[in-house]
Amino acid sequence: MALVTKAIKGTQDLLPCDSYKNRFVEQTMLDIAAKFGFKEIRTPVFEHTELFSRGVGDTTDVVQKEMYTFDDKGGRSITLRPEGTAGAMRAFLEHGLFNEPLPQKVSYLTSCYRYEKPQAGRLREFHQFGVECFGTAAPAADAELICLAHQIFNFLGIEGLTLELNSIGCPTCRKLYHKALRDYFEAHRAQLCPTCLDRLERNPMRILDCKNPECKEIAQNAPKVLDYICSDCAAHFDAVKRHLDAMNIPYVVNPTIVRGLDYYTRTVFEFVSTQIGAQGTVCGGGRYDGLAEELGGSATPSLGFALGIERLMLLIQAQNTPLPEEEKTDLFIVTMGDDANCRAAQLACSLRENGMTVQYDVLGRSVKAQMKYANKIKACNTVVIGDSELESGVVTVKDMEGDGSAQLPLADFEDAFERYLIQAELRKIADGEGMEGADLSQLLTKTE
Ligand code: HAM
Repeated sequence: MALVTKAIKGTQDLLPCDSYKNRFVEQTMLDIAAKFGFKEIRTPVFEHTELFSRGVGDTTDVVQKEMYTFDDKGGRSITLRPEGTAGAMRAFLEHGLFNEPLPQKVSYLTSCYRYEKPQAGRLREFHQFGVECFGTAAPAADAELICLAHQIFNFLGIEGLTLELNSIGCPTCRKLYHKALRDYFEAHRAQLCPTCLDRLERNPMRILDCKNPECKEIAQNAPKVLDYICSDCAAHFDAVKRHLDAMNIPYVVNPTIVRGLDYYTRTVFEFVSTQIGAQGTVCGGGRYDGLAEELGGSATPSLGFALGIERLMLLIQAQNTPLPEEEKTDLFIVTMGDDANCRAAQLACSLRENGMTVQYDVLGRSVKAQMKYANKIKACNTVVIGDSELESGVVTVKDMEGDGSAQLPLADFEDAFERYLIQAELRKIADGEGMEGADLSQLLTKTE
């Protein structure tokens, strides 16, 4: 029978054989961010459309072409979040977090939605790990934030990323730059796409970010923002670089980075890879000192970044980065008969309460089939319980990774199995250290 429907284009399932890798990477990022003082925030997957048209900017590709926007049953215009910053800032303003000690530092793991043309590393539903730091204008904050991303990549063992850095100035220097851009693009008006013709009037910087190949080519020779920033912005940028130098974080200044979202001011940065195809920007962020006011709050200089989980996982795959193994099943209980199956259920409950990963047969299979299954799921140990074991009160635990086995009392199985595991672990350590018989038996008797 054919499937009723398949996953929507640009979305993907994360299957159990891979999900533990994402979980490890995501938890690592949250933990490292926590060391910098970032605490998790969760905001809704949909917001009023106005949040994004005002926040992200209604001349951006994201707002003009890519948002999943619909009217709900009450006739309100709703949008699935295309990114995490606007929602986090809304929550910061709505809940008066500006009254808490500043800066307020938040981290998040969210799904995002953009109607883009799917390709490797570009999805319509994707996931971001992000951090936002609300309430500081100091360049030290920019450098510290970049340091956080840098440490995440280092900890995970990701190699070959380039940190590209730029300053796109403040509204004061932006005026000068906009004029220079208008003068330049006016001369190429005939080649610009219709969207960029509109941008020429409303926000010429957005032309630099257009994906249309002709606009892209013209944009290559456009005036560079770094040549137009005011002395305050230049001093801020120099201080960011000084901090990065002090922390030994390598970067290249790339004066063509403008970022695809309107809220940015001053520092912008991207971590870029050449190993995952055209969509090589794994992480992007910067300062957005005007966003709070744009959304109706009071001035709150802020900054943040977001890291694309799918792109990061592509990179991990491309680099064969070693990740910890999936958690294994400590024990599979093979049963024969109903009474044994009930005893297995009891045992599994208490062993799990003691922190172990335990499974037993819930399919009514033969012993042979249960053993085969235990092998397939790579259970570390098996134990068989049938009528005779119930009667004798003794069971045999078999080590599935080596050839060891041990007879343990069923009545006291939980404690006995725990001791057995500790002894097996010690034996492995002793083997690795080349420990002699007398030392080993002394060590093992201590655990008996
Ligand atoms: P962004 O550059 O639009 O910035 O997205 C951040 C990251 O999300 C990208 O570097 C990329 O890894 C990933 N990403 C974006 N679009 C897609 C897609 N269609 N498919 C897969 N991955 C994607 C932001 O979203 C800002 N909110 C970042 C930020 C936070 N700036 C300040 N604070």
